[in-house]
Amino acid sequence: RIAGPCSLVIFGVTGDLSRKKLMPAIYDLANRGLLPPGFALTGFARRDWADEDFGKIVYEAVREHARTPFRESVWQSLSEGIRFVQGSFDDNTAFENLVSTIEDLDRVRGTGGNHAFYLSIPPGAFPVVCQQLARSGLSAQNPDQWRRVVIEKPFGHDLASAKSLNQIVNEVFPEESVFRIDHYLGKETVQNILALRFANQLFEPIWNSNFVDHVQITMAEDIGIGGRAGYYDGIGAARDVIQNHLLQLLALTAMEEPVSFHPRALRTEKTKVLSATTPVGPFDETTARGQYLGGWQGGQKVRGYLDEEGIAADSITETFAAITLEVNTRRWAGVPFYLRTGKRLGRRVTEIAVVFKRAPHLPFDSTATAELGQNALVIRVQPDEGVTMRFGSKVPGTAMEVRDVTMDFGYGHAFTESSPEAYERLLLDVLLGEPSLFPVNEEVEQSWEILDPVIKHWENNGKPEPYHSGTWGPESADAMMARTGRHWRRP
Ligand code: BG6
Repeated sequence: RIAGPCSLVIFGVTGDLSRKKLMPAIYDLANRGLLPPGFALTGFARRDWADEDFGKIVYEAVREHARTPFRESVWQSLSEGIRFVQGSFDDNTAFENLVSTIEDLDRVRGTGGNHAFYLSIPPGAFPVVCQQLARSGLSAQNPDQWRRVVIEKPFGHDLASAKSLNQIVNEVFPEESVFRIDHYLGKETVQNILALRFANQLFEPIWNSNFVDHVQITMAEDIGIGGRAGYYDGIGAARDVIQNHLLQLLALTAMEEPVSFHPRALRTEKTKVLSATTPVGPFDETTARGQYLGGWQGGQKVRGYLDEEGIAADSITETFAAITLEVNTRRWAGVPFYLRTGKRLGRRVTEIAVVFKRAPHLPFDSTATAELGQNALVIRVQPDEGVTMRFGSKVPGTAMEVRDVTMDFGYGHAFTESSPEAYERLLLDVLLGEPSLFPVNEEVEQSWEILDPVIKHWENNGKPEPYHSGTWGPESADAMMARTGRHWRRP
């Protein structure tokens, strides 16, 4: 799967994402031989840079963040196709310069006139950039040359704003040319969810409410908000990652088998399951939200959220969120899906734990099974990628005693192949026009529909509960599980 000739334009090229993820991913793709010689990259930003200055920025980003070894010859041929256009988004002349730069690249690089526009910019700037692309003719579709737009989250901050964003983008680009990035879908372990479920006979027969007690989806981070106060404050954990990454994980875990792996078939099943998903209330009892205090993490003293640079002392933005959902289908009726995420938690780990019901009958003394937990299948998304199965086994000895043991599959042991970085995979798919790993507008809107009532409830109910950095979140998160007789896993 090698991309055909094309030109990629990145708006917002001075941002962190561009430097840490996009530029290195472009180089890694080139280095793996997945980009054609007819590839060109244009950066667009306000900085007063010449092509060489931008080239130097890309070079430094590649040297610092690329995953594959540096090869001068690869860099040379890539760098010859790098240009920079200076201007602000409302500057018509800048867009005229962009047109002539792209046309020039089409000629000298032989891009075939295929163009992708990557909007690595705040959503507030989408309308003006889309209008400029339309006005300058850059978005005009024609049958022989493709035009695609790539957009980064946040896709709005609630259902209403997501709808109007989608409308703005779709006025300029038809839905099949819109690629919305949810980088979790670019992760190898996330793509493996469907392989695990649908390439095997073992799991699917028990993947339902007859056998499953509940599902826990955890995305825990040990980092704080770093230098991202401007983005994060006012957004919070639920909008930042539950609306997108965690609900996508839920969709892949709970969806029915698609009739094929055709993008349309996948989308049909994902939208079906999301449309059947609703939050469970009363939210005071079934959800939790927190905000990190200072503390110690990894032997280092860390600041509390309210002391982070750029955060108002009275901010009520949550840095931890946990919610309870149900999927109203025959397969899942009565099975709660618990989703939680937080910053400054005990360790960095993302996992999906499918926790099974207890055996209906245990023909042992009660002491024999006192330490037996519930069977569980845990998909370890990251780090330490793999799958764990937990079940009871007899403890060696003369008495019958059963205790939990685990059976493990780890990528590191099972495969010699290395996983591409999520952005690498997704960028390649954009250039190939392969839409399977990109949520469509319907999924985005459905996800807001699920989350909106919870966020509204929180906004009307005061402050998030403080928790110490390095712990597993606020007490209310444990209490919400305890109310149902369950508990969070300690990954
Ligand atoms: C981003 C969020 O989408 O995902 C960040 O905006 C978060 O807040 C990041 O830190 C986590 O990504 P990963 O791939 O490190 O789990």
